[in-house]
Amino acid sequence: MLDIACGTGVLTVRLADKNVHVTGIDINSEMIRVAKTKDYKIKPQFSVADMRNFDLGRTFRVTGCFYDAINHLTDEDSVIKAFECAFRHTEENGYYLFDVNTIKGLKNWEPFQSSRRDNFFVRQHGEFDPETRIGAYKVEAFVKRFDGEVDFIEEIITEKGYTDAFLRLEIARVGFKKILVKPFKSDETIATAERLLYICKK
Ligand SMILES: C[S@@+](CC[C@H](N)C(=O)[O-])C[C@H]1O[C@@H](n2cnc3c(N)ncnc32)[C@H](O)[C@@H]1O
Repeated sequence: MLDIACGTGVLTVRLADKNVHVTGIDINSEMIRVAKTKDYKIKPQFSVADMRNFDLGRTFRVTGCFYDAINHLTDEDSVIKAFECAFRHTEENGYYLFDVNTIKGLKNWEPFQSSRRDNFFVRQHGEFDPETRIGAYKVEAFVKRFDGEVDFIEEIITEKGYTDAFLRLEIARVGFKKILVKPFKSDETIATAERLLYICKK
């Protein structure tokens, strides 16, 4: 499987534990550095690459892009390029899976959130612009390291909401033959869902 925008390998570890051979790519070299430090039952291949423009020179039975990584692309052209790249890397009759935060889901993000655990405190604040359908959130965290020192980390996360109609149209346009769309929660419909899963067959 190809884990596109794999981040620090949270899913990669679980897949490798289930004996899946995984290749992971992410645009952020720090994410890839951390992903490489984890323990895997089957060692994955990792590389730094932009999901809108990469060529690994091979195809995979399954390609996937999870935990709203598609929403991190903040214009339609980028999403289309990401779909084209995923299509090129998916085997004939293989599958491309991805999930998105819907526009409703992004609108419902709390403007202010904070949480605290033993070794970190994190807070997030920001807002969603209904005109551009982009939410911009500043995340600030204090993290206590093993040596007792405290690191301060801050980052701005931007996510754009896309309509189901746009995603289906572009998935079909790049060449996927079948699309199944499912809400994450069983009591939601596609129209009311805050998060949707797309399963696309080549
Ligand atoms: C919310 S995280 C999801 C990480 C991982 N998929 C998971 O489930 O834990 C979004 C990831 O998308 C990556 N990303 C954003 N834009 C990207 C791009 N153009 N190409 C590849 N990765 C990208 C970020 O670096 C980040 O690791």
